Amino acid sequence: MAKKKTAERAKAARKPARNGKRKKPIKNPVFHHALLKTPRLQEMIDWYAAVVGIEPVFQAPGIAFLSNGAANHRLSLVDNAQFRENPEFRKYAGLHHLAFEYEAIDDLLDTWQRLAGDYGYEPHVAVHHGMTLSFYYVDPDGNSVELQADVFGDWKKSKKFMMESPLFKADPVGTFVDLARMIAARNSGVKTAELLRRAYAGE
Ligand SMILES: [Fe+2]
Repeated sequence: MAKKKTAERAKAARKPARNGKRKKPIKNPVFHHALLKTPRLQEMIDWYAAVVGIEPVFQAPGIAFLSNGAANHRLSLVDNAQFRENPEFRKYAGLHHLAFEYEAIDDLLDTWQRLAGDYGYEPHVAVHHGMTLSFYYVDPDGNSVELQADVFGDWKKSKKFMMESPLFKADPVGTFVDLARMIAARNSGVKTAELLRRAYAGE
């Protein structure tokens, strides 16, 4: 089955893209986490802890990142106080995004190029979250899909950053990135580590 899928994927990859050029090979990311919106953060944390033993790596008012393994988080929860007493709260509960992780930042940047070049797919937002660089796409149904790579290249380090860094504590969302400028800098030869530094600093 896996072999058949690989063959199908390889065949699809050989098909000319819509711009007539040969499609670039796909670097496969692995599923990393989901983010759920909720009007009852603590209740959700307690429920997931009881059911699947997943606990906060980081928690602040309105936000929590939970993990039950080596990953820095496997489930994120975002609460919004204004929804809490809203009788229509279910409108505001549910999936916000699914996230897939690449092995390296350069794989993520290459994927941006592949998706833009082969399909014209562009992220609607790019964020340096401190522990990851993340590009958010929208699937055909309108679900948000985060493609990310670990900034530290090491889950132990990125988890420690989330637990201990004052930068993350002060701002667990991070810095919005001007992707066009980042790609231009990359194309002009700026190294990946410097791109990341500039992105987090908002330069
Ligand atoms: Fe995420």
